[in-house]
Amino acid sequence: MNNNFPKHIAIIMDGNGRWAKQRGLKRTAGHEEGAKVVRDITTHCGKLGVEFLTLYAFSTENWSRPKLEIEFLMKLLEKYLTNELEVYLQNNVRFQAIGDISKFSNALQKRITLTQEKTAKCTGLTQILALNYGSRNEITRAVQKLVVQNLAVNEENINSCLDTAHIPDVDILIRTSGEVRLSNFLLWQSAYAELFFVQKYWPEFTSYDLDDIIDDFIKRERRFGSV
Ligand code: FPP
Repeated sequence: MNNNFPKHIAIIMDGNGRWAKQRGLKRTAGHEEGAKVVRDITTHCGKLGVEFLTLYAFSTENWSRPKLEIEFLMKLLEKYLTNELEVYLQNNVRFQAIGDISKFSNALQKRITLTQEKTAKCTGLTQILALNYGSRNEITRAVQKLVVQNLAVNEENINSCLDTAHIPDVDILIRTSGEVRLSNFLLWQSAYAELFFVQKYWPEFTSYDLDDIIDDFIKRERRFGSV
């Protein structure tokens, strides 16, 4: 495989609500359509040989949405993980979650843990869902762990206390829907990531769009601060 091929792709899946509004549908219809794209892109990354795909599914800031939308997203997540188990196993996909899942219902927490356990031996793509995730929250929790364990505050120790401890840095960070910001997503891990901002809303994003981004990435020269 090409040396420049990305190991870790991260995506801010934005624009579900606007996609739905444009079609006179409820915002929740956009999330449902978005969940289908999650499956397509995961399968595609697995086939391409990408090792890690991290998807921003629910942020620490998303709790400020209307209660009904939050409830819908929680149910959709639980349904998705339940239905997806067979697909993960068939496609040799390992599932992991990052973020503070202790704020979710017991049923959802159990479903997340079960999916992690059942797919733990899969050796293909690792799909990571960021759930109740925010970088500042993650870095704060990491520093708290260092203090409790009386460890030195240095980059290596902070890295090993992050939720992403055993996951390589992000190579490609994509955001859909035309918004150009990082919204508290993988700030530490994306220090040297190549950024791609796509106009399409998440429900319209296809594996062809991802192929174009990967082609572009392979052509870019990454100097990591060197000359
Ligand atoms: C942003 O769209 C999307 C989210 C807040 C959540 C992402 C959720 C999904 C893609 C569907 C469910 C995911 C899984 C893994 C089953 P938005 O609502 O902010 O859209 P808007 O900016 O147009 O309002």
